[in-house]
Amino acid sequence: MAENEVKLTKLARCAGCGAKVGAGTLAKLLEGIRVHEDPNLLVGFDRSDDASVYKLSDELALVQTVDFFPPIADDPYLFGQIAAANALSDVYAMGGEPRLCLNICAVPKDMPPQAVHDLLRGGYDKVYEAGALITGGHSILDDEPKYGLAVTGFVHPDKMLTNSGARPGDVLLFTKPLGLGVLTTAAKADLAPRPAMERAYELMTTLNKAARDVMVQYRVHACTDVTGFGLLGHALEMAQGGGVELFIDAGAVDFIPEAAELAKMGILPEGMYRNRAFAEASVDPGTVELWRQDLLYDPQTSGGLLMAVDPADAEALYEALIPAVPSARRIGTVREYRGRKRVFLQ
Ligand code: CO
Ligand code: CO
Ligand code: CO
Repeated sequence: MAENEVKLTKLARCAGCGAKVGAGTLAKLLEGIRVHEDPNLLVGFDRSDDASVYKLSDELALVQTVDFFPPIADDPYLFGQIAAANALSDVYAMGGEPRLCLNICAVPKDMPPQAVHDLLRGGYDKVYEAGALITGGHSILDDEPKYGLAVTGFVHPDKMLTNSGARPGDVLLFTKPLGLGVLTTAAKADLAPRPAMERAYELMTTLNKAARDVMVQYRVHACTDVTGFGLLGHALEMAQGGGVELFIDAGAVDFIPEAAELAKMGILPEGMYRNRAFAEASVDPGTVELWRQDLLYDPQTSGGLLMAVDPADAEALYEALIPAVPSARRIGTVREYRGRKRVFLQ
């Protein structure tokens, strides 16, 4: 990177989905606001799902979501791709296909036009890769750059997946390694090894489309993408939503190796502590080492899909998933809730 180039992440206070308002805080902020009802609204405000779903006909439902955040990479083109992949992911997590996107963009006055151009180009490229279109958007001036998309997609109302359908016996599959939050935080202090960052950027720009396309061919009861709340935060939401408990084999969860090294050194994003504070009371950590727990709470940006798969289909889905998504892992099972904790680690 040339010296006169803008270092985007230096302009941002927190990286990517780490900038998300904590789950507990959000619930409090929404308290008391009157919500109107509509029988066609299949998934709305009252649920902790990634996107809202509105039934248009017996065959067609609309999926809508929005996501944007401050730079998570210094290269604007890379940042654009990551922000777009992350926003599109919420449609994939519902089992849907994205169709139309709108840019949401905040630019500082002194941001070079070429950098803004590259950022937007990153977004367009990812959206085209997803088979969707960018049809417009809205930009404002701001001290800190921000970018993302409002995404509209479609899903068959009977094929829609939420994070609340998990049933006892289901097998948990997860499609991307963890450690993205740790690495992007370390990168801001120039502490992240370059090969690890390249791996992290590759993972964050990878669409969850391939995982979704395989997933929808099998019986999957629940799905969510793992982003700002970390694997355990999103797992907790899945457990609560389904009235079940999740068992996660921490040793089966894949990490970017350098992220594990950094976590052991205590280099952790602020969002990790927020996620832990939010979920901890409902998590039985077993004898899992602290650094490993930290990574399970690490906020991800454009993270993988967490699926609760019917046990009869789990093997077949996993076999089909591996060629398309080699980083997919079987990480645990869903159990009947015994009234104690919601998530158990081993
Ligand atoms: Co999401
Ligand atoms: Co999201
Ligand atoms: Co406008």
